[in-house]
Amino acid sequence: MSSDKASPSPSVQAGSPVQTIFKLTCGYWISQSLYTATKLGVADLIAKDGPQTAEQLAAACGAHAPSLYRLLRALASVGVFVEDRADDGARRFDLNPAAECLLDRPGSQRAMVLMMGEEHYQVYGKLMYSVQTGKPAFDHLFGEPVFQYLSKHAESATLFDAAMTGIHGAETAAMIDAYDFSGLGTVVDIGGGNGTVIRTVLEKYPAMQGVLYDMPHVVERAAPALAASGVGGRCRTVGGNFFESVPPGGDAYLMRHIIHDWTDEQCRTILANCARAMKPEAKLLVIDAVIKPGNEPQFSKFLDITMLTIPGGKERTAEEFQNLFASAGFELAQIVPTKSEVSIVEGRLRG
Ligand SMILES: C[S@@+](CC[C@H](N)C(=O)[O-])C[C@H]1O[C@@H](n2cnc3c(N)ncnc32)[C@H](O)[C@@H]1O
Repeated sequence: MSSDKASPSPSVQAGSPVQTIFKLTCGYWISQSLYTATKLGVADLIAKDGPQTAEQLAAACGAHAPSLYRLLRALASVGVFVEDRADDGARRFDLNPAAECLLDRPGSQRAMVLMMGEEHYQVYGKLMYSVQTGKPAFDHLFGEPVFQYLSKHAESATLFDAAMTGIHGAETAAMIDAYDFSGLGTVVDIGGGNGTVIRTVLEKYPAMQGVLYDMPHVVERAAPALAASGVGGRCRTVGGNFFESVPPGGDAYLMRHIIHDWTDEQCRTILANCARAMKPEAKLLVIDAVIKPGNEPQFSKFLDITMLTIPGGKERTAEEFQNLFASAGFELAQIVPTKSEVSIVEGRLRG
């Protein structure tokens, strides 16, 4: 592996096209290493008992010590964990700020790393299927659509709920800062998942009432934390299926990362159910990324590939939102950008 001729190694010129391709292609080396250390609970072991050698960590998590050492050394080389060599020669691993994100605690990135490293990683192995057929590789691999699968796999579903906060958590504050919800009596959070979005909105607006609406097994998991929060008395939980109906009477129907999960045709069914439930002056608040034209990097251009392969949906441009709204009886009132990846795409029922 010493010669550049024999193998394109990172020793090729920094920033060269070959290095770009090499680094991008080997990305899964890092993501699967991160997944493995996270699954083994290495960060939590260090948080509990302090810096430890690979032998100590391996004994505690049931791994092969020399291999665990190599895994953690590799991760430390990309900025996750730090290896310290003590005077006695022992090589101990400690947490650093990136490794702390892997801890098993609310709001951490642990669930996101595990979810992406498990079913999502397998699905990406079948990306070719989605690109050749336009259909979700998830269904092809697991035999059923993702949200049906989650309703039958409690562990994956719990991870999914927590991963939503890991992936999208920072968007909540940005959304609250960017959009003025004042004057709205009741906000219905459609597909509200673990309830953090509606809870945050209600915390900022003390006179507002909320409804958390999602599949029955999801609201059942979310209900205890919501009830125990300061807004529990102002927020109802309702289980159901948004392809059949949504709770009536809200002043705003908020959907964060719902519309991007579905095809235009499926979205029209959800939007028609919203339209039926809405008062004439109620607002539709779709919170999703708006894909920018051009070659600029945007996280959602790859989140779009995840939508293609997993639920079978898509991220949309401003024009695509406009067309979707128009075909479902809504007009696009405004697009409010936030400091995060998402915008608030506001719709009104056409008169
Ligand atoms: C991508 S998650 C978004 C969760 C939450 N809105 C957020 O931003 O964190 C999609 C949500 O849609 C819910 N969902 C999927 N199919 C549904 C259906 N048919 N009826 C109601 N909720 C559904 C899922 O359970 C999940 O909580």
